[in-house]
Amino acid sequence: MSAVAVQSGAVLQVRAEVATGLGAEPPHLPYRLLWDEHNTALYDRIREQPEYYLNRLEMQLLHAHSREVTADCGARTLIELGSGTGEKALPLLRHLTAPATYLPVDVSTSALSRLTDRLRHASPSTSVHTVAADFTRPWPPALRETGRRPALVTFLGSTLGNLLPGERHDLLALLAGSLEPGDGLLLGVPLLHDAQVMVSAYQDAAGLMEAFYLHCLRILNRDLGTNFDLDAYAHHVTWAAPEQRVEIGLRALADQSVLIPGHPTSHRVLLPRGQVLRAAVAVRFTAEQLDDELSAHGFETVRRLPDTSGRYMLLLARHQG
Ligand SMILES: C[S@@+](CC[C@H](N)C(=O)[O-])C[C@H]1O[C@@H](n2cnc3c(N)ncnc32)[C@H](O)[C@@H]1O
Repeated sequence: MSAVAVQSGAVLQVRAEVATGLGAEPPHLPYRLLWDEHNTALYDRIREQPEYYLNRLEMQLLHAHSREVTADCGARTLIELGSGTGEKALPLLRHLTAPATYLPVDVSTSALSRLTDRLRHASPSTSVHTVAADFTRPWPPALRETGRRPALVTFLGSTLGNLLPGERHDLLALLAGSLEPGDGLLLGVPLLHDAQVMVSAYQDAAGLMEAFYLHCLRILNRDLGTNFDLDAYAHHVTWAAPEQRVEIGLRALADQSVLIPGHPTSHRVLLPRGQVLRAAVAVRFTAEQLDDELSAHGFETVRRLPDTSGRYMLLLARHQG
């Protein structure tokens, strides 16, 4: 059983969500379901692949700018959405006003337990409270009530780009309702640039991305009892210009009939040969576009910190209340 299903106790809901996604046009899968223990570990290796420039650029920017970012909002508490194993928090934690609190939020319980081990050695003076939760859901008391303000919320690892426009809007609305005036929001922003380069980040020569996305079918077979044949799908990456995003999915190599046991209405889904099952989107942004979206939710951009190649940017905003 995956971490997601166990935590929420909502296997039925997950099953319904998967059935709806598979039956939709285009068929797609919920992004958060990708993150079981296996894929969490695999992602640590993907981040190091030469093609995956996003992680490298973000890490460089964090090392270069963490001091000014934390000073700007005088943060005492760092809340990290989709923290993974917490590597990105380390440069920021060094500059938080002591005594500091770190609240990493993730659906992957294996990421959170590895994070705790890492932090114990790297930053022993920080008080760490892991929060196993879905960042798209209203904040649990552990997030709302722990740590002194002002807080700095970080959303790094290009995860902002994995949200569809409606989901991005909902997340900003949720943050606006959960933060206090003066709290900061630091976004890792993958910028719009050359399409071939953006696509190739998801086509590493070592094949780790392919393994990551194929594994999501294994997750569904294991947790929901579906009958996906992993040999019948191929990694598929494309640039969708109108939506300004890379789409990553699995292309059916032959007609597929997918069984979703226990689902009352759409228990069997037909995926014809050539059909692409979308597993994730990776939206690319312009700085102006994000300023507008943030200001619509009461956030004012304080700093734009792009890298010299113009491929990635850290954006610091302040909640105006
Ligand atoms: C692209 S990784 C980024 C990890 C880390 N921030 C980094 O920069 O290396 C996305 C992370 O978000 C987590 N995640 C995905 N969807 C989530 C959700 N709805 N709620 C909480 N965590 C989520 C995943 O488990 C994963 O650790």
